Amino acid sequence: MAVAGTSPETDAHTAPYAAAHAADFDVLRRQDPELAGVLLAEYERQTAGLQLIAAENFASPAVLAVLGSPLANKYAEGYPGHRHHGGCELVDLAERMAIERACALFGCAHANVQPYSGSSAVLAAYAALLVPGDAVLAMSLPHGGHLTHGSPANFSGRWFDFTGYGVDPGTGLIDYRQLRDLAHARRPKAIVAGSTSYPRHIDYAAFREIADEVGAYLIVDAAHTLGLVAGGAAPSPVPYADVVCATTHKTLRGPRGGIILCGSELADRVDRAVFPFTQGGPQMHTVAATAVALGEAATPAFAGYAHQVVANAQVLAAALGAQELIPQTGGTDTHLITVDVSALGLTGLVARGRCAAARISLDKCALPSDPAPAGSVSGIRLGTAAVTTQGMRESEMERIAKLLGRALRGEEGVAGEAAELAAAFPPYTRL
Ligand SMILES: Cc1ncc(COP(=O)(O)O)c(C=O)c1O
Repeated sequence: MAVAGTSPETDAHTAPYAAAHAADFDVLRRQDPELAGVLLAEYERQTAGLQLIAAENFASPAVLAVLGSPLANKYAEGYPGHRHHGGCELVDLAERMAIERACALFGCAHANVQPYSGSSAVLAAYAALLVPGDAVLAMSLPHGGHLTHGSPANFSGRWFDFTGYGVDPGTGLIDYRQLRDLAHARRPKAIVAGSTSYPRHIDYAAFREIADEVGAYLIVDAAHTLGLVAGGAAPSPVPYADVVCATTHKTLRGPRGGIILCGSELADRVDRAVFPFTQGGPQMHTVAATAVALGEAATPAFAGYAHQVVANAQVLAAALGAQELIPQTGGTDTHLITVDVSALGLTGLVARGRCAAARISLDKCALPSDPAPAGSVSGIRLGTAAVTTQGMRESEMERIAKLLGRALRGEEGVAGEAAELAAAFPPYTRL
């Protein structure tokens, strides 16, 4: 793989990063120039194109600073005040800050900030509430469910008895009548609400009502939307769910990790499900970086960011529609848009490749209309969390829609324009 730092052009591009981390970076470059080159090349890739992967974002310099800190050295099995290891007084402070900030921000009694990832958080939520073999209802994978919502390739599908609910084929919206019918027929122990690709707000009150009718727990997997909830740009699942699990690195813009929110009655079960049941020592640098991200997410600036993410997505969806790239459900309430590219004679994979060649990063995704089992998928999924962090607004979304349309139709010359647009909005000007 070609790495940065090998030409004056790439050196110029990566200079802000190298300058900001001069001391650490010089050590790395001297000791391991090959890996240093990979780091700079990835920095260049992220900043010299349009990042529309709905699950990604640019964590702040403060978050990155904690991730690259000596907190990464510390072992701290257990919870603040009750650790297996010695010397945990200071990381205890960091974890307590993360917990208190999460509880204040989301209005819940308890938060566990140790899950290594979104998947680990879901695993722990199941471990807290279920036993193997229990029946669970979750969104089916082709309709937007995550691997952890019952895929046979995942622990969830292997260890629990999942039934998938879906969206109405006409509207693309969750079919709450089907959900209720399935709940009454299957009598699940838990219902999971949440998705990797559903662009609309979820009616958590309806989920709660149906869960109560059949005596099921309600688990909300808010991996994608928790940052929008923090910024007041999406409804909160906290008043409705027994347990909310999420990632910290998507719209919440923190380090890569997971978080679980719940009431005091389930706090012990959730904590024991994370450690010692499904995890070992927490990654204290990530826990501390989560505290920093939660501090950022409580600011008015972040609320402005979250609302701008949604405004940008809505403009982008409408502008795509104007190019016959019709968004599923007719638009979005969130950061996320899915589009059927089969009308252009493309598969999701080919579309993703064409966009990548045009320096636009996005994902392919399965659509409810794709034939099962999913082989070739006909959707693409994109999101506005990262470009909004860069400072792009509505007018840039109009431009991105045009670039996307041209890239998908296989036009030449899009990469240069995408790179030019990205370069005008560097994510790390404040490094
Ligand atoms: C709904 C949902 N749940 C869980 C996850 C898993 O998160 P992670 O990749 O951090 O394990 C994702 C990731 O995209 C997701 O979209």
